[in-house]
Amino acid sequence: MDTPTRNPNTVSSRLEIEPGYQSGFGNEFATEALPGALPEGRNSPQRVAYGLYAEQLSGTAFTAPRGHNRRTWLYRIRPAAVHKPFTPLPSDRLVANFAQVPPTPPNQLRWDALPMPAGSTDFIDGCVTMAGNGAAESMSGCAIHLYAANRSMTDRFFYSADGELLIVPQEGRLDIATELGRLEVEPFEIAVIPRGVRFAVKLPDGAARGYICENFGALLRLPDLGPIGSNGLANPRDFLTPHAAYEDREGDFELVAKMNGNLWRADIGHSPLDVVAWHGNYAPYKYDLRRFNTIGSISFDHPDPSIFLVLQSQSDTPGVDSIDFVIFPPRWLAAEDTFRPPWFHRNVASEFMGLVHGVYDAKAEGFVPGGASLHNCMSGHGPDADTFENASHSDTSKPNKVADTMAFMFETRTLIKPTRFALETAQLQAHYYECWQGLKKHFNPEQR
Ligand SMILES: [Fe+2]
Repeated sequence: MDTPTRNPNTVSSRLEIEPGYQSGFGNEFATEALPGALPEGRNSPQRVAYGLYAEQLSGTAFTAPRGHNRRTWLYRIRPAAVHKPFTPLPSDRLVANFAQVPPTPPNQLRWDALPMPAGSTDFIDGCVTMAGNGAAESMSGCAIHLYAANRSMTDRFFYSADGELLIVPQEGRLDIATELGRLEVEPFEIAVIPRGVRFAVKLPDGAARGYICENFGALLRLPDLGPIGSNGLANPRDFLTPHAAYEDREGDFELVAKMNGNLWRADIGHSPLDVVAWHGNYAPYKYDLRRFNTIGSISFDHPDPSIFLVLQSQSDTPGVDSIDFVIFPPRWLAAEDTFRPPWFHRNVASEFMGLVHGVYDAKAEGFVPGGASLHNCMSGHGPDADTFENASHSDTSKPNKVADTMAFMFETRTLIKPTRFALETAQLQAHYYECWQGLKKHFNPEQR
């Protein structure tokens, strides 16, 4: 067995300590918040140290190939089964079956940022589904949510049975206390919370806003690198998973579950964040997008945006992902005699974009931090008129830097279907199409 990493701040333990992290993607981690809490040589001894219960959390089928198999053994104060029955928690903000949304228009769509909530709203209540595809119940596709919240979860805990949550903060830090330890995440970082893992979100900055891709399908993984070689893009060592940290806290708490797009609540008399030790490869993690090793052309043209791939959810068809999480970070553009911004295009894939910071290099204006755009299958799009004019006449003999930016894309193989909320919200920009109307006709058959 691996030697367990020990959180250096374990003496009084718990979730109050500064979070520490273990490095690596999908490793067989081993961590304990009390010395000797982790059994050695077996997973389920007759009696676990400190009177803990052993519990397995499986994220993949038992018989999934070793390279894809994810599970974790938890050693906790009480098993996850200990809570009162769930009852429905009415909410009309979440969607998990995209057969039930309005017809998807082929229009290019763009939204302003979601306003911060007027009333007191926590991370769960602050989530709203914008778009998605497939269905949680068939474990295929994804839901794309936005969140805007201003209240910390103190006596409330949450998990999603529908999928893993890829969280992209845009404003405000998130302090995510999970069963497996604490993640502190700030804008420019992402967090991934596996399906089923219970957590509570505190807001150190008072308010927070961002994006979530809830992945119903195969777990996110690092892409193969092909001819790039053995390094580059998102490097595995930059993914950080928390050490074990627990709280032994009793009270009148609420456990909220998301199942098939519906929320359910149950009374629970203790904090479910009571895992004292764990080992396995099914665990939350975070990643700093500023660590992404961006690769691009040093001759002419620029590669397809697959070169910006951070994480992928693979489908059953080789080379065709269900979800690609792609970023457009600060980078040098050095290609010569080339139209440097993203080109005009139509793709079989569908693209939901967000902006964490700054300006995206294909849009001079209108695409704002916290906002979003959706370019679906075969919908034409590309740089706006101003960007095209500038880039068509810029000096390409010298490199220029796209600085002070962080855009990203959730790209999927099937149509990204906006929800009724997304199509009716006041944040939907009615005049987005106008950004291309200024593209002039330059064609002249007499002049090459
Ligand atoms: Fe695109």
